[in-house]
Amino acid sequence: MTEIPAPRMSPRLALRGQVEPFHVMEILKAAGRRAATHGDVIPLCVGQPSTPAPRAVREAAARAIEGEVLGYSDALGLSTLRETIAAHYARTYGVAVDPARVAVTTGSSGAFTAVFLAAFEVGDTVLMARPGYPAYRNTLGALGCRVVELDCGEETGFQPTVAMLEEHAREHGAPAGLILASPANPTGTLVPADELAAMTRWCADRGTLLVSDEIYHGITFDEPAHSALESGGDAVVVGSFSKYFSMTGWRVGWAVLPEVYVRPVELLLGNLNICAPAVGQAAAVAAFTPEAIGELDSHVARYARNRDLVVARLPEWGVHRLAPVDGAFYAYVDVSHLTDDSPRWCEDLLDATGVALTPGIDFAPADPRDPRPTDGTRFVRLSFAGDTPTLGEALDRVVAHVTR
Ligand SMILES: Cc1ncc(COP(=O)(O)O)c(C=O)c1O
Repeated sequence: MTEIPAPRMSPRLALRGQVEPFHVMEILKAAGRRAATHGDVIPLCVGQPSTPAPRAVREAAARAIEGEVLGYSDALGLSTLRETIAAHYARTYGVAVDPARVAVTTGSSGAFTAVFLAAFEVGDTVLMARPGYPAYRNTLGALGCRVVELDCGEETGFQPTVAMLEEHAREHGAPAGLILASPANPTGTLVPADELAAMTRWCADRGTLLVSDEIYHGITFDEPAHSALESGGDAVVVGSFSKYFSMTGWRVGWAVLPEVYVRPVELLLGNLNICAPAVGQAAAVAAFTPEAIGELDSHVARYARNRDLVVARLPEWGVHRLAPVDGAFYAYVDVSHLTDDSPRWCEDLLDATGVALTPGIDFAPADPRDPRPTDGTRFVRLSFAGDTPTLGEALDRVVAHVTR
């Protein structure tokens, strides 16, 4: 056997690769340990459906595995899937989308990386809501962009407004980009339709690229979500099969791109991933069939019941204020009467009850030298994607813990 010589220098570590950890991973690790010893863990920290892909999708996957080569597809995806996604925009939002503008990606995560690379230079300023989905911040940061997190409190449903964009622009000029998510993670709130239209116009007028994360569309309870595409403009709209379609691990998402980004994104995707997973793409074509939609809508009915249960029972935790949970499967709960150290509180809760929640600092990291009103130290995210009786049991346990 040949001996490998010891390295002469330590490997290089780039600063840009040193992204923030997901603090929920610590909770998941602790939950795994507890599950092994106690077997009573209820993971309300997991941001994914508890159901498999619809039957029609699983059957399409089986047919594709048996009958197709499943080699690489075009970098922008299977043409049948791109056409199916484009037709979904006509049916759902009444907007015509040319399938040539649809890029199929490795989850929506793959779309964000490619779009950020295609649209933003190193040093460009991109705005996002705080609290917000951490991967926007971490990916943009790794790409050398300057992320400005807008403090969004409960009074605006934790969402940015035109007034906030104006205030930023007065002092710093128009940003290169704005990321919106509606419904949002971690709050489940929607941007109201008129505000979404106004922000879309604001961005178009100032040359700011709006990246509209619409991956929770389909999971709304009282009114449907609106797409940024309905207001015209040149927004990038990002979608995914992960959430409504219950296909997180299949890793298929998409972006609807303004014409100018199609070729750069095609080249980037071809280099970064070659293509999205072929079996997932072949199966995803069946996700819009009436049988699949019927199955998926029954999950949404359960999420709605779960939302109502959470809203009804939060007062028993001493929580009396909650921004309207319009969609997705999250409630972002202010627990400031219980703690100012959400990671510690989540750990203690897990130890005492077996219920795992996500500390708010994943979505709004806190710097003790620069405290902000939106610091996630006072919030936790609860995911109600699971079944209703288990959710009820988890809520009972938390009530017993906080009223002990
Ligand atoms: C707001 C938001 N955007 C994007 C993603 C990434 O999802 P995926 O890559 O599975 O489409 C997530 C995942 O939780 C999310 O919550």
